[in-house]
Amino acid sequence: MKTLRLQLRFLVPLLLTLTVAALVALPLMDRLTLRWFARDLNTRDALVANTLSDAINEAQADGKSWRIQSLFDRAVQDERLVAIALCGPDGEMLRRTEGYPKTLGCTRARELSDQTVPRLLLESGSVHVGVQPLKGDDVDGASLVMLHDMSFIDKRSQDTRRYLVGFIVLLGVAVALITVVVAQISWRGWVSGMRGILRGEGLLVPLLPPPELQPFASEVRARLRDLEDEYRRGLDLVTGWNPERLRSLLLTQLRGDQVIVVSNREPYLHERLDDGQVIVRRPASGLVTAVEPVMRACSGTWIAHGSGSADRDFVDAHDRIAVPPGTNEYSLRRVWLTKEEEEGYYNGFANEGLWPLCHVAHVRPVFRESDWEMYKHVNERFADAVAAEARGDDPVVLVQDYHFALLPAMIRERLPRATILTFWHIPWPNPESFGICPWRREILQGMLGSTILGFHTRFHCKNFIETVDRSLEARIEHEHSTISFHDKETLVESYPISIDWPEGDRGWPSIEECRRRVFDRLGLGPFTILAVGVDRFDYTKGILERLHAVERLLEKYPDWVGKFVFVQVAAPTRSALEEYRAFQQRIHSVTDRINTRYGQPGYQPVRLLAEHHDHEAVNELFRAAHICVVTSLHDGMNLVSKEFVAARDDEQGVLVLSRFAGAARELSEALIVNPYHVEETADALHRAATMPAAEQRERMASLRMTVRENNVFRWAGRMLADAGRYRLRERIAARVQRHTNSEPDEKTLHA
Ligand code: G6P
Repeated sequence: MKTLRLQLRFLVPLLLTLTVAALVALPLMDRLTLRWFARDLNTRDALVANTLSDAINEAQADGKSWRIQSLFDRAVQDERLVAIALCGPDGEMLRRTEGYPKTLGCTRARELSDQTVPRLLLESGSVHVGVQPLKGDDVDGASLVMLHDMSFIDKRSQDTRRYLVGFIVLLGVAVALITVVVAQISWRGWVSGMRGILRGEGLLVPLLPPPELQPFASEVRARLRDLEDEYRRGLDLVTGWNPERLRSLLLTQLRGDQVIVVSNREPYLHERLDDGQVIVRRPASGLVTAVEPVMRACSGTWIAHGSGSADRDFVDAHDRIAVPPGTNEYSLRRVWLTKEEEEGYYNGFANEGLWPLCHVAHVRPVFRESDWEMYKHVNERFADAVAAEARGDDPVVLVQDYHFALLPAMIRERLPRATILTFWHIPWPNPESFGICPWRREILQGMLGSTILGFHTRFHCKNFIETVDRSLEARIEHEHSTISFHDKETLVESYPISIDWPEGDRGWPSIEECRRRVFDRLGLGPFTILAVGVDRFDYTKGILERLHAVERLLEKYPDWVGKFVFVQVAAPTRSALEEYRAFQQRIHSVTDRINTRYGQPGYQPVRLLAEHHDHEAVNELFRAAHICVVTSLHDGMNLVSKEFVAARDDEQGVLVLSRFAGAARELSEALIVNPYHVEETADALHRAATMPAAEQRERMASLRMTVRENNVFRWAGRMLADAGRYRLRERIAARVQRHTNSEPDEKTLHA
């Protein structure tokens, strides 16, 4: 096909040149040469006439006109002069040589000689007819008719024509070759220019569009970007996100393509209890809380580590299980890890290295070479699983969190056309802090395999971009928040994560009922002010600082002793790690200390519930409480704060929130505190405990509006809409690429 097009591009201009030559150039050339020769012969005739004039005049004067005949006979010995005749003033023929045609009288000869090319066809060939007046008294009015042989003109014309044809053919070949080259160059230039534009490359980068495209390129790029920005701004204003809207976005903008989620933590664990009974457990994970409703809306496949003790008993031959149990809305693909893999990748590199590194929570990150090797190995294993689960070559893959920093680039290797959205659920530290990681470059390169890289806040995006700027040779466009590395562009954007806002009749027990149940269970007096904290038992959550604040509250405002109770739900987590075990022990002992210091018979100011609570139990606690305390030392978002707000449909209750949690940027009507400042947090607890109902309502109503609008479907919707936009751009670029590779067809070239 390609050769045929090349041949056509060569042959068409060649044939065109030859046709033009045949129809126009050759006849024109013939006419021209004939005229040139005719003019030549006229001059020659004049010369001959001049030469003979005197002799004829003399012969006439002497009355020896017979000499004229011999004069003529001598003259026609010239090989080109065929015949000659003398015409009198009245047009009568006085003398002629032997070869002069009898039919050609003087008048006819004069008429012919007046034509541009005076030509007469004889049996012997064509002759040129020239009539020249003679000068002299005795030949006044007489003229000479000279017939010149034209065969030499025909011969020369033929020679000229032959040369001309040769020249035209050469010219045709040259024109055809030039056409091929110019078409090639200009098409490639145009295409690379357009591709550059579509890739959003600036005009000052090394791959410049050809000069003639530059004004056009900048105009197109600017318009595209404006439209995209406008579109994204418009999408930000869209309200009322829900599962239906998300599903329709998937169908319209992502053409219903397959969605694959990858996370370390699975949404449902099958656990075998000591009595042999198997239960399905939902893990305590903000990630799972947020992504699960999205997956239910999108269907697709969720790939995760199968970590439940009975997980293997509930999968099919492909390690898949349909979940949620009972409704089977999407497929969970479990990946099995050996003890060594889990130790190096999960406990080691992810939780002893990256977790403290990103949280900057005063726990030193530990980086072991062996953990790093295992982290790489497990990322490869999940990349294989993604490739195996992908039904086509361009699925939408949602990579979740710090367990999979290398995965985006690994997926990109296996599925170059995949749209990879990576969401980093934890904070991203400043470049100096991240700089202590020995494999920082590899991690950044891995993450930049993503099409879109999401963080909870602009601040984390900014930290990430600055880190890349310090560590890699990448092109950063701050205006559009993109990073181009190895010709691949990644959009770095903030997408504040959220929860599935409970709409309609949830069937929840009333606030009074919840309070009654909780108070009964915990043995609290009816006038107790109940503050709650619900977290994983993690050192980043500020549980210790919270306890110090409670202790300070009781010390500073002794009236609260006996009346203020703080309940901390602490879900067991990562207890294989020494750092966690030590921290958990410390919390237990500080709790004991406070209870010993302020406890009374029937009253313990702090209740530490260090066990897993399911969603219903947590919701009941939130509805029973007067205050919710979130004092993370550093937190990507913190969904507990949003769940508390969602639980309070009575518009009562106060949220005390750390300014170091991403949620503080959205939930500004909470009482915002610096958890390291014990006094400030203690005062905030006092203020919360004494806040009038009207102020509580005003704050809570506003918080509820914020969380309701900015729900998790908006989080996913914004990300997927951006992905849809990128996929559209990629498709256009691929189409242009296809044209480049296969060469433009004639239609395109001539269009
Ligand atoms: C954080 C992380 C999640 C993780 C969760 C629970 O929210 O961002 O990725 O799932 O903690 O931690 P775990 O180690 O139990 O999965």
